[in-house]
Amino acid sequence: MKKVAVFASGTGSNFENLVISQKGIENCNYSIELLIVDKKDAKAIEKSNKLGIPVYFIDPKLYQKKELFEEAVLTILKESSIEFIALAGYMRILGATILNCYKDRVVNIHPSFLPEYPGKDSICRAFSDKCKTTGVTLHYVDSGVDTGKIIYQERIHIDPLWSLLHLEESVHEIEHKIYPYVLNKICKIF
Ligand code: GRF
Repeated sequence: MKKVAVFASGTGSNFENLVISQKGIENCNYSIELLIVDKKDAKAIEKSNKLGIPVYFIDPKLYQKKELFEEAVLTILKESSIEFIALAGYMRILGATILNCYKDRVVNIHPSFLPEYPGKDSICRAFSDKCKTTGVTLHYVDSGVDTGKIIYQERIHIDPLWSLLHLEESVHEIEHKIYPYVLNKICKIF
């Protein structure tokens, strides 16, 4: 069983789903031990409290350098013997301080079929461009923006009659289906 920390900045639906899914996976290989948030109003905080998972808000504004911010995060991870990091809507690029300590042990979920639409607002941009398809990607995290090695992807066909909201819901549905499954597989092999 690998001890996992989730990092989030917003709603936290993937975080919540990763926690809840642990119980449904037979011989689950991961355990969500804590949540790190970098925004004090992140909805993920409420979800964490409801689920009884410790949550740590670390304010980047209190640190003059990214390295110092990441060292504060690392201290928490080390105190809880965290072995693996799962990003879920974390809106910050990880620096060398964390990546060197967790080499090949950080994954992210991204709402597009990478390398299409890296970065922010991927769902909205695919919708505005009237794409016929988009997707969801799980990838290892490197120092770039959504550039790490791809682990798993699923395509979503976009019906031209769909609203943006419908597309967003479809993307999240796929995310919630695949993230626990893929994290479980990775935690088994590494
Ligand atoms: C998801 O769409 C994820 O792919 C992206 O950020 C969003 C987070 O959603 N990286 P939530 O906070 O887990 O609801």
